[in-house]
Amino acid sequence: MIGTSSTRRSWMGNIFNNNDEFLTAKEAAKLLKVTVGTIKNYIYRGELKSFKTPGGQHRISKLDLFEVMGHRIKEVKREPHFKETQKFSDEFHTDYVGVIRTLLEAIEIIDTYAQGHSARVAKYSLSIAKKLALSPKEMRNIELSALLHDIGKIAVGSAILGKPGRLNERESFIVRKHAVVGEGIVEQIEFLQATRPLIRYHHERYDGQGYPDGLSGKEIPLGARIISVAEAYDSITSGCPYRQALPTKEAVKELEKSANSQFDPVIVETFIEVLSI
Ligand SMILES: [Fe+2]
Repeated sequence: MIGTSSTRRSWMGNIFNNNDEFLTAKEAAKLLKVTVGTIKNYIYRGELKSFKTPGGQHRISKLDLFEVMGHRIKEVKREPHFKETQKFSDEFHTDYVGVIRTLLEAIEIIDTYAQGHSARVAKYSLSIAKKLALSPKEMRNIELSALLHDIGKIAVGSAILGKPGRLNERESFIVRKHAVVGEGIVEQIEFLQATRPLIRYHHERYDGQGYPDGLSGKEIPLGARIISVAEAYDSITSGCPYRQALPTKEAVKELEKSANSQFDPVIVETFIEVLSI
C-alpha cells in the first residue's frame, strides 16, 4: 500500500505520525533497485521532494517516490548519467554550481564588502586549475570549494563583517573561525565531502603561519593553495573597509611579494601567467 492523495497533500505534516510512508534515501534506493546517488540526483534536481531530519538525513514520501520515479525507473537505469560513478557529471555539476551561487549571493548580502567575491574567486581558481591541467574532477571540486570557501562567514554576523575599519582581537578571532565553521556546514552534505579540506585550509599559509591548523608547503591541499591565491587577488583588487582596491599590476606585485611566505610560488606564477593572457 503506497498511500492516498490526502497523505500526499499533507506529507510534511504526517511524517511524525505516519513513519511507514516515509523512507530514507537508502531505503528508497533499495526499493527501486537503483543507487542512492540516483535517488539523491532526483532530489537535488528538485524532481523528488524530500526533507531533512535534524540529523541531516533525507526523508522521502513513498507515494512521491513511485509517482516521480516508479514509471521512469527502467528508463533511468538505462541513462548512463544516472550511474553512481558519474554523479559528478557536468550536467549535475552545473546544477549544483547554479544553486550554490544563488545561495551565496543571498549570504553575501550581509557582507557588503563581499559582493560577488565567491563567484570571482571560483572563476580565478578554475582558471589556475585549468592552467595546471588538473583533472576534470579536481577542477569541479576546486570550483565548488572556491564558491563555498567563505560559507562559514554566515556565523560571523553583519556587525563584524560590515564594520568599517580594522577589527579588534576578539572580532578577528571570530572571523578566523569561519574556515572551520565552513567545513562543518558542508560536512552535512554528501556530495560536498571533497570540498571540506579546501574550505578548512584556504587560510593556511605556505610558511606554516596560517590558520586553523598551521599546515605548511605541500601539506596544504593543492586546491586550498589555489583558492588562497585567488582569494587574495580578489580582496586586493576589490578593496575592503580599511584598504582601497588596487589595479591588477599592483595586485600582482603584492602576490609576488608574498610568494614563498603566504603563497605557493608555483601557484602565484601560474596565476600571473593566466592574468597576462
Ligand atoms: Fe576566507
